[in-house]
Amino acid sequence: MKKTILVTGGAGFIGSNFIRYVFERTGFKGKIVNLDKLTYAGNPENLADIAKKFRGRYVFAKGDICAHNAVLALMKKYCVSAVAHFAAESHVDRSIFGPKDFIETNIHGTFSLLEAARNFWAGRKDVRFHHVSTDEVYGSLGASGKFRETTPYNPRSPYSASKASSDHLVRAYGHTYGLPATISNCSNNYGPYHFPEKLIPLVLLNALEGKPLPVYGDGLQVRDWLYVEDHCAAIWRIMNKGRPGATYNVGGSCEKKNIDVVKGICAALEALAPAAANPTLGGREYTDLITFVKDRPGHDRRYAIDFSRITKELGWRPSVDFRSGLRKTVSWYLANGAWVKNVKTGAYRKWLDKNYKR
Ligand code: NAD
Ligand code: DAU
Repeated sequence: MKKTILVTGGAGFIGSNFIRYVFERTGFKGKIVNLDKLTYAGNPENLADIAKKFRGRYVFAKGDICAHNAVLALMKKYCVSAVAHFAAESHVDRSIFGPKDFIETNIHGTFSLLEAARNFWAGRKDVRFHHVSTDEVYGSLGASGKFRETTPYNPRSPYSASKASSDHLVRAYGHTYGLPATISNCSNNYGPYHFPEKLIPLVLLNALEGKPLPVYGDGLQVRDWLYVEDHCAAIWRIMNKGRPGATYNVGGSCEKKNIDVVKGICAALEALAPAAANPTLGGREYTDLITFVKDRPGHDRRYAIDFSRITKELGWRPSVDFRSGLRKTVSWYLANGAWVKNVKTGAYRKWLDKNYKR
């Protein structure tokens, strides 16, 4: 396929993995334009090697998806024929302490992008707008059941409410204006380049430094986990083969209690970087660091996802099991000390300030 894809939020965790996946794993011959505002979560270092290797076919554009005219100009300049929309404020805890940016980027930003696509594509059908969304729009489950694509929306945090709003807008543009749009609602991702505010990288890096491993509430909340590359493969398949207008749930068949995830990280670390050889642990086991802390306000209890539609229609299913995914993730963080240091010390911000006007 030879075309230009506009990826929004491509300097973040999933977006950067997606760009890497498309260039290295799919045989894609076209160009990718990565539009990213470089918030605290955006780090072009995630793609420094890709930028070199695919020079000429990879373009980085620093900018805000809310800036409608600039987005439209970018789409025109590069003759964009597909959009993979990742850009968002993505951290639930931050949305609780300050929802404003979530409303701005996730709702207004998606609206601005949809308007640019509608104006530029003007009724074309050989184009695609793919919106990357979350299982959190469906709310919280009891002890049984799974989210299906037909489950009524019931978002319960400012983050999930903003993502739900953006999903509705995308569907409305498909229905009203005939924009060829698809949506994926995915469960919790993990893997390389994950910003260490989220549970898995936070716990992994705290453990290596002998710091407390914070578990919210009783730690019995359940999340479904998916290795990030599997998510990228699902998105690519939906963009290329998914029905315009359709929504696809994406998940890992991997429901885990948070406390078990934390213990799993400790076990993977013990295998790859034994606590006994880590002087900061001072003779403690990694699990000794587990600390139960105050719960997240409004914390959703359980998520589980029925992804049979994408399996039946598009033949996608997860390929990486949790144990090997965790080992790959821990290995990646151990092998990428410079990236970790830059992110943890904030040094990547200084580099950004030098290289990109803010
Ligand atoms: P992230 O926070 O790591 O990255 C978000 C990226 O968007 C950053 O590079 C940031 O600079 C950029 N961005 C933020 N505001 C912007 C704006 N106004 N204009 C342009 N760029 C902007 O997020 P992530 O975890 O990679 O998530 C990506 C998408 O996937 C989000 O839409 C999120 O809702 C969705 N999602 C995430 C998960 C998960 O487990 N992380 C699961 C399901 C769905
Ligand atoms: O379900 C998909 C969603 O997964 C995405 O839409 C979000 O963008 C992504 O951030 C993620 O949301 P969560 O809130 O589930 O992820 P987080 O890593 O913040 O938390 C995972 C679980 O672990 C959750 O139940 C809260 C808990 N937790 C989290 C942190 C940061 C802790 O117990 N301790 C912690 O320190």
